[in-house]
Amino acid sequence: MFKKKKREVLTCDESLSHIAFIMDGNGRWATSRGLPRSSGHVAGAAAFRKIVECCNQMQLKHMTVYAFSTENWSRPKEEIDRIMKLLSDYLDEAERIIDKNDLRIIFLGDKSPFARELRSRMREIEQKSSSGKRILNIAMNYGSRSEIVHAVNEALSNGKRVITEEDIDDNLYTKLSPPPDLIIRSAGEMRLSNFLLWQAAYSEFYFTDTLWPDFDEKELKKAIESFYSRKRKYGGLG
Ligand code: FPP
Repeated sequence: MFKKKKREVLTCDESLSHIAFIMDGNGRWATSRGLPRSSGHVAGAAAFRKIVECCNQMQLKHMTVYAFSTENWSRPKEEIDRIMKLLSDYLDEAERIIDKNDLRIIFLGDKSPFARELRSRMREIEQKSSSGKRILNIAMNYGSRSEIVHAVNEALSNGKRVITEEDIDDNLYTKLSPPPDLIIRSAGEMRLSNFLLWQAAYSEFYFTDTLWPDFDEKELKKAIESFYSRKRKYGGLG
């Protein structure tokens, strides 16, 4: 069971080592305030930072966030540019937080469509943080179906002729993390939207109507309490 430390800070045990987040609702948060959608992403990035901090305090070993999907390129250029700028700002900041938090940052997805400078800074952060013990996966230009195809092609190019489940596990972008124990989606939608389809086979799901910019430590606690109230049976009798 999970325990609360003195300062009401959540801790987790080995049954909860990976939480993945679908950070949905930035646009609705902004439009409901009469603001441009981009402001929602700014507020969403602030919520993301706070949740990274909560997960650091909990000593969670693996965290994954869905920051930009392969489908998000169809959004207006201004909105895409804002998200890229937020990523770039986070890369500056990440330089300072990786050591303090023993964090390893990994970008999931195909980096090739990003601007050259952004690409090289993403690689640089991945390298600089490579000895970190706790993993933060940031899915950027990520799509789960193309990840699975990529994993199969990697295995084939490594000489495999018959592909096993293990070959796919070993070649996913998330290969350094176990499957998520818990997947949280904000903003009331109850679907995976091409996120971690393979990895989610036995994940627990938590959906909340709270829009991502309002998702905070309290919301995270609710999700974790819900997780610990469940019995995971993995298709067996438990
Ligand atoms: C989904 O909400 C959110 C996104 C497509 C972008 C998520 C980006 C961030 C939280 C900020 C940047 C992240 C980092 C790593 C710095 P939506 O826009 O689809 O919301 P809606 O469904 O209400 O329109």
